[in-house]
Amino acid sequence: MHVIKLEVMDETNIPELQDLLTICSDYLTFQDGKPVEKDAAKDLLLTKPDAVSFDDKIVFGIYMSDNHSLIGVIDIIMRYAGPDILSLGLLVIEPSCRGKGIGENTHKLLEAWAGVNNFSRIRLGVLFDNDKGLSFWQRIGYKETGEVKPYHSHTFRVMEKPI
Ligand SMILES: CC(C)(COP(=O)(O)OP(=O)(O)OC[C@H]1O[C@@H](n2cnc3c(N)ncnc32)[C@H](O)[C@@H]1OP(=O)(O)O)[C@@H](O)C(=O)NCCC(=O)NCCS
Repeated sequence: MHVIKLEVMDETNIPELQDLLTICSDYLTFQDGKPVEKDAAKDLLLTKPDAVSFDDKIVFGIYMSDNHSLIGVIDIIMRYAGPDILSLGLLVIEPSCRGKGIGENTHKLLEAWAGVNNFSRIRLGVLFDNDKGLSFWQRIGYKETGEVKPYHSHTFRVMEKPI
């Protein structure tokens, strides 16, 4: 089992976050339909729905506990879809660390954090054509809600899991 920890990121983490996003350009280019931009890390830290305050947005870095290397990131919005719902924006792990259980362990940490903070559901969107992502979320207990929404040139299915 890989020992990881989640740490809240802020603007001081922009250089390492930008490096991570660049390494994860396989997924981000697919998601956004364009190369990773030079301000991608800053945008990830600052972009949120207009209706949400910055207090309700958190970007967690996923760090290896032994050497504190940044290997992934999670972007969450609290109380956007409902008062007890945690919405997951982005979860991406660097390619060389995928398929080793780190995504599942990350989700366990996030789920525990969400429970302690009184959320009762986690909600997320999976782009059509992200078959590996879909299979990952299904395996760890997410179910499709039936909602389908647009995202840039894509559409995504909404999935939820009760905590
Ligand atoms: C989706 C993602 C976050 C999952 O993280 P991960 O660390 O690869 O996830 P896990 O290793 O826990 O699980 C991935 C697969 O590896 C397998 N796996 C887990 N531990 C393993 C191990 N020790 N050895 C071999 N395979 C293993 C799992 O069975 C799983 O297969 P499944 O999801 O098809 O059932 C990651 O692959 C990623 O960043 N993908 C690109 C971005 C993306 O799609 N994000 C989600 C957007 S909705």
